[in-house]
Amino acid sequence: MKPFVKWAGGKTRLLKEIERRLPADFDEWKNATYVEPFVGGGSVLFHMLKKYNNITRAVINDINPVLMHAYEQIKDNPSQILTTLMSLRDEYCSISDDKAREYFYYRARKTFNAMRFEDEQKVSFFIFLNHTCFNGLYRENGFGEFNVPHGRYKSPTIFEEDNFWTLHECLQKVEINCGDFGEILRSIGNESTFIYMDPPYRPVSKEITMFTLYDKSGFKDLDQIRLKEICDVFSNQGCKIMLSNSDSYDDNVSFFENLYSNGYNIDRVKVTRMINPYNSKNRNPKEVIITNYPIPNNINEQY
Ligand SMILES: C[S@@+](CC[C@H](N)C(=O)[O-])C[C@H]1O[C@@H](n2cnc3c(N)ncnc32)[C@H](O)[C@@H]1O
Repeated sequence: MKPFVKWAGGKTRLLKEIERRLPADFDEWKNATYVEPFVGGGSVLFHMLKKYNNITRAVINDINPVLMHAYEQIKDNPSQILTTLMSLRDEYCSISDDKAREYFYYRARKTFNAMRFEDEQKVSFFIFLNHTCFNGLYRENGFGEFNVPHGRYKSPTIFEEDNFWTLHECLQKVEINCGDFGEILRSIGNESTFIYMDPPYRPVSKEITMFTLYDKSGFKDLDQIRLKEICDVFSNQGCKIMLSNSDSYDDNVSFFENLYSNGYNIDRVKVTRMINPYNSKNRNPKEVIITNYPIPNNINEQY
C-alpha cells in the first residue's frame, strides 16, 4: 500500500526501523488504537493498518487542511476523486512536448488555487499537483496559494487505482482530524493505545537554517517542548509512544537526549531522505527514534 501523496519527511525509508522498535507484544494487543498526530503522507499509518489487524481504531491528525480534506474525501467520496484524477492524468500523460506539459501543470495549479475549499474536485487537483510538482513539496505563498514549480518527470505515477481503493478501505476505521497536535491528543489515551509522533524536524544544528517545508507558522523549540510534556501525560496513562526526529545538537549537546532524559529510550538510525529538510550538503543525517518503553531484545536480528 502506497501513500496517495509524496510528503516532506515521509517515513517509507524508515519503516523497517520503526517496525523493529514497536512494543514487543504489539501484535497481541486486543483492540489496539493507533494514533498519529502528525500524519503527513501516512506512510506509517498505512503500513500499520495493513499489517496489524488488531488495530480496530485509528486517529490521525495534521495541521494542513488541504491534506486532511484529501484523507476525508478518499474515505467518503472515492469515486468522484478518481474520475477527475483519471482525466487529469490521462490528459497530462498524453502530452509529449515538455513546454505543453509545463503549461498544463501551471494551468492546473491556477485552477486549484482558484477553487474553494469545499470544491469537490479540489482533492483530485491536489493529488495530481503533488505528483507532478517539484519534489512533491507542499508550499504556499503569503496569500495561501500553492506555489511549487513543475517537476518535469517523464512518466510520473500519479496514482494506482487498486492502491487507491485499498487506501479507501483502510480509512474506514480511521478518525480524521485537522489542527494542532495538542487538540487531538486531549481526547485520546488508554492502555492499548500506540502513538507514533513524527513532528517537523528540528534543524540538525543552530548553524543550519531550515527552510519551512510544512506550514507558514513553522515548528519551534517551544513546540518540541510542548510535545514532550504531552508525551509525559500519555506515558502516565499507560500509552506506548514512539517519536522520530532529526539527531539535533546545540553546541555538541543532543537536544532530544536532553529533552527526553527522564526514562525514555533513545536510538539513532541512519536515513536517506528523498526530500532533504535541511539546507545542507549532509544528505545522510541520523535520526533519533525515542520510545517510552524498552526496545525489543531482538532488535539486531535480521528483519
Ligand atoms: C515530518 S512530517 C510527517 C511525515 C509523515 N510521517 C509521513 O510519512 O509522510 C510532519 C507533519 O507535521 C505537520 N505539522 C506541523 N505542525 C503541526 C502541528 N502544530 N500540529 C499537527 N501537525 C503539524 C506538518 O503539516 C507535516 O505534515
